[in-house]
Amino acid sequence: MGIILATAGSAVGLGNIWRFPYMTGQNGGAAFIILYIIRVFLLGIPGMVSEFIIGRHGASNAARAYAVMAEEKRHRQFHPSSLIGYMGVLTSMIILGFYAVVAGWCLQYLFVSVMGHLQGDATFAAGYFQQFTSHPVLPALWTVLFILLTHYVVVHGVRNGIERASKVLMPALFLLLLFIVVASCLLPGASAGIDFLFRPDFSKLDEGVFLEALGQAFFSLSLGTACLCTYASYYSRQTNLFRSAMQIAAVDSVIAILAGLMIFPAAFSVGVQPDSGPSLIFITLPSVFSQAFSFLPPLGYLVSILFYALLSLAALTSTISMHEIGTSFLYEEFQLSRRSGAWIETALCSLLGILCALSMGAVDGLRLFGMDMLAFCDFLTAQILLPLGAFFTCLFVGWYVPRKVVRDEFTNWGTIRRAPFTLFLFFVRYVCPLAIIAIFLHQLGLL
Ligand code: TRP
Repeated sequence: MGIILATAGSAVGLGNIWRFPYMTGQNGGAAFIILYIIRVFLLGIPGMVSEFIIGRHGASNAARAYAVMAEEKRHRQFHPSSLIGYMGVLTSMIILGFYAVVAGWCLQYLFVSVMGHLQGDATFAAGYFQQFTSHPVLPALWTVLFILLTHYVVVHGVRNGIERASKVLMPALFLLLLFIVVASCLLPGASAGIDFLFRPDFSKLDEGVFLEALGQAFFSLSLGTACLCTYASYYSRQTNLFRSAMQIAAVDSVIAILAGLMIFPAAFSVGVQPDSGPSLIFITLPSVFSQAFSFLPPLGYLVSILFYALLSLAALTSTISMHEIGTSFLYEEFQLSRRSGAWIETALCSLLGILCALSMGAVDGLRLFGMDMLAFCDFLTAQILLPLGAFFTCLFVGWYVPRKVVRDEFTNWGTIRRAPFTLFLFFVRYVCPLAIIAIFLHQLGLL
């Protein structure tokens, strides 16, 4: 139970509360959500179960877990499938870099909320966000601080503590979200936001949306970097892999939808554009906290502090999972001490994080392909590397790993009677790889 919760802790994070609303807002609302849910359940779950199978069977770091599977079959040292693991290590490093920037924004908002300086209307909030993110030092400082915090947790083995705490923190975050959802839906003019979320307008679906929904689904499930392998290596022989994947995906999607219900009614009510991009939740929420609770300002004050605190902690349980991938890889593969492995990971991610933080306005030229560094890293990972990681993982499990191993893992050595094994195999062999290729080709305009 604990380790399943920990996996859910990795899945639930800024991906649900920051990225999901902003992606939904940029892609027209309800229609995007439908695509997203389809991807989570049809492509995400088979992908998750595949990573679980590799992780539980391999019982080691990302790259090794793939190699273990392969070696058993071929009896040789290096096998190209370890490349899937290496790619996962690299991907999670890039994600950690930019993710920490946004987590750093949460820390700043937590700090400013405590000081009581974050009260005002939407124009004020937008101005504040702009001014803060283009500050030359502060955002980068918070980014590095967040990575150091992650480092501390990973190195000092307080991870168990954090994960035990998340048994309380996750339900707390859930309840607080529900509470803010209600407050947000009671704002004047909120119904336009609810319409936006639930009444699909398929004419709003543009070219990029299929890949964006795919990327969002994988990002939110922590799928495609062997992150789930690492967790599954701690699963017991009794853990029902398929059922766990379903449960985690369900919790993850519910939290994302709640975040949407928190943001859009409020955004429409206070006049924030739904397609504001990465700033969306940061420019919407301050007005929710001051307007929805205007009848009792101390309550708004308290709710805002609690919210940013819980969001930062949710982000922390996710960054821990990313940091761990790189750390355990460096430590096990290069005969380093765990401590040095962690420091290398921290240094590299901090460097990237600082670049991303500075590219938001502090330093002008930090752009790649017309995007700021943060948007670029986000695009590169969520829309290219994660789908590729999941693609190869499905092929690997579907076609390369001996069928008996897959069946044993999927059915817990025959003890789960009604496990849909044939259906699962059909999905990882055909449906997932073909769907991912089709989405890529569509994006390139070839399909
Ligand atoms: N899923 C997390 C979120 O929604 C982010 C995350 C953690 C992640 N570990 C990952 C994303 C590994 C991709 C790969 O916030």
